[in-house]
Amino acid sequence: MKSNENHELMEKLVSLSKRRGFFFRGSEIYGGLAGFYDYGPLGVSLKKNIEKIWWDMFVDGREDVYGLDAALVMHPQTYQASGHAANFADPMIEDTKTQKRYRADHLLEENGIDVTGLKPEDMNKLIKERGIKSPDGNVLGDVMQFNMMFHTFVGANADSESKTYLRPETAQGIFTNYKNVLDSLHPKLPFGIGQIGKSFRNEIAPRDFLFRVREFSQMEVEYFVAPEDWKKYFEHFQKQVWNFVDAVGIDRSKVTELEIADGDRAHYSERTIDFEFEYPFGKKELYGLAYRTDYDLKNHGEVSKTDLSYFDEEKKERFIPHVIEPSFGVERTLLAVLTSAYSEDEVNGETRVFLKFKPEVAPYQYAVFPLLKNRPELVDKAREVYEQIKKTGARVVFDDNGNIGKRYRRQDEIGTPYCVTIDFESLEDQCVTVRDRDTGEQKRVKIAEL
Ligand code: GAP
Repeated sequence: MKSNENHELMEKLVSLSKRRGFFFRGSEIYGGLAGFYDYGPLGVSLKKNIEKIWWDMFVDGREDVYGLDAALVMHPQTYQASGHAANFADPMIEDTKTQKRYRADHLLEENGIDVTGLKPEDMNKLIKERGIKSPDGNVLGDVMQFNMMFHTFVGANADSESKTYLRPETAQGIFTNYKNVLDSLHPKLPFGIGQIGKSFRNEIAPRDFLFRVREFSQMEVEYFVAPEDWKKYFEHFQKQVWNFVDAVGIDRSKVTELEIADGDRAHYSERTIDFEFEYPFGKKELYGLAYRTDYDLKNHGEVSKTDLSYFDEEKKERFIPHVIEPSFGVERTLLAVLTSAYSEDEVNGETRVFLKFKPEVAPYQYAVFPLLKNRPELVDKAREVYEQIKKTGARVVFDDNGNIGKRYRRQDEIGTPYCVTIDFESLEDQCVTVRDRDTGEQKRVKIAEL
């Protein structure tokens, strides 16, 4: 796809999302707050359906993974131990005239420079050597490291004693609860703890709609293994990531794996594969798979002075488990699912927009229409059918607004796979017309068999 087509696609996704109630800019009536989005009625449903698929696949569907829901605000020492206080920073640079701040690596990339493996001092040198200016054309200062954690104060005193941070990854709540799970459920290695929840990062440059935001949700498993087994489980989760890509309907031909080089990995990782997706604005990280070694448990053990070792009964050995971490961002999933689902075709000379969501992720799986809204016998029958479908646990919406053509267009745009119409014949033969979103094909189906 050409770059202007990509730009157009992005605009279409943003406008459809707002028009149909998927996502709204956070605090919009006050002009918005950069890096924050709110989920509208359809967005909530899409998000929940995706999270459910993940939870079924990575937690409930497995005997060896336990669920967790930890607090968002954690003891400040958590971040000393995790290394986030010292290392969780992005390279930042300031326009000396406007004082606007930018990501130094983004500015270099925009000037056609590959930033792989570059340290902040290398970036600084390159910016000076090439005479790179700010987007407003002004001289830039020096590259600094900017810590991305949001801080807050706990309790009535706002001082250094009460200062802590909103978690920048869900993972830390898992590490700090590892011993609780071990002591209460007594799992044997290998086992994992999975969690879905919010994370916060004060991104220097939030951008690209839901892609880089300051408040987002992560779905993460920390999988604890014996040190010698790490490769086996790394490969296992590598396959699981692909299974999840398929399960939510992300176009797998747009996903590629990228082995992250030594100098570019997060401070805790000895091996990382990024799963990248071809978003309309470029190929960017969708998910990450990391081998975190015993980095986190070892450091939490030392800082908290708690024994976080594991005793292997069979081998009669005590050691700190190593960790494999598949990490999934919910917002990046939503954007990849939307990009993959967005389709257009032509019906009666007009462009039809439809979202080819898998029925498992679609906000509504069925829409039920009475052919005419002013005929009580049709409306009553349609209500009956609606209730019948609802009872099965399927997601169904009742729609009697406008003519049938308009209703189809509306349901196509929100990705409803099946539209069910009740007409006069239905009252006689107990059959309804079921129309397929993708093909437009219509079939008569017995109500009892819906
Ligand atoms: N626990 C590991 C971890 O947090 P990460 O690569 O920093 O690793 C994991 O983040 C995933 O979280 C990413 O692959 C992405 O899906 C999502 N993510 C990270 N930062 C994000 C942001 N600012 N906005 C939206 N999603 C983000």
